[in-house]
Amino acid sequence: MSLKEKIDKAKLPRHVAIIMDGNGRWAKQRGRLRTFGHENGVTSVRETAEAAAELGIECLTLYAFSTENWKRPRREIEALMSLLPRTINTELKTLHKNNISLKAIGDLEALSPKTRSRLMKAIDDTKHHTRMNLILALSYSSHFELVQATKSIARKVKNGELEVNDITDETISKHLFTKDFPDPELLIRTSGEYRISNFLLWQLAYAELYFTPKLWPDFRKEDFYEAIIDFQHRERRFGRTSEQLSEKVKV
Ligand code: IPE
Ligand code: IPE
Ligand code: MG
Repeated sequence: MSLKEKIDKAKLPRHVAIIMDGNGRWAKQRGRLRTFGHENGVTSVRETAEAAAELGIECLTLYAFSTENWKRPRREIEALMSLLPRTINTELKTLHKNNISLKAIGDLEALSPKTRSRLMKAIDDTKHHTRMNLILALSYSSHFELVQATKSIARKVKNGELEVNDITDETISKHLFTKDFPDPELLIRTSGEYRISNFLLWQLAYAELYFTPKLWPDFRKEDFYEAIIDFQHRERRFGRTSEQLSEKVKV
């Protein structure tokens, strides 16, 4: 039985988020510049997006560039910013072929006009696709997102659109960049790092976390399947007891 066949299609996570990490180390191991690792990470993006779409996952969010990544050396930032439009050009056919709709979350105003306009055009060109949302987190950080959400909620309170006592979990969720998507049920991080790095802090509240030592440019469909199978063996209790889940007791 192949790994793919071991996946229970009735128990798929609706949304998987990935911290694609380890490109620099992958390149260093080969005596190459860090950017060589980023370039090779594109194959992993293609494989993972295809694997997720083929399985029937609704949303796949990929952490491609964090707010904190602006602190990297200027040349690396430039290489990453030029890689994005090039990748969109080469991968657009993969999106069309697989009926995938491209989306983006983050401080998109911080991207260069050329990068942003290429991205916006690809989002527009693929908006009618319905099989899966491929969401790129670009110049993204959870703190930035939560500050934006707080400002926008505060403005609504100030101008009388919203009462303080009416603020709920849902109010916050609906003011995040991810307002149109369900919360991720599975978070994968590659490269053997065990941290969240300012990614989807609110949305990951009840996600299952999966860490693999594989470096991102080595990540392939089979690695994605392994993560999904692992997820399907977890017991998701949401505060209840194991007995309650098996007896289907409500309270
Ligand atoms: C992840 O790989 C890609 C980005 C953050 C843009 P890294 O560039 O962080 O690679 P390592 O962690 O240094 O190996
Ligand atoms: C997180 O990776 C951001 C992305 C994958 C885009 P980093 O490699 O930048 O994270 P830290 O700084 O090591 O936590
Ligand atoms: Mg890293």
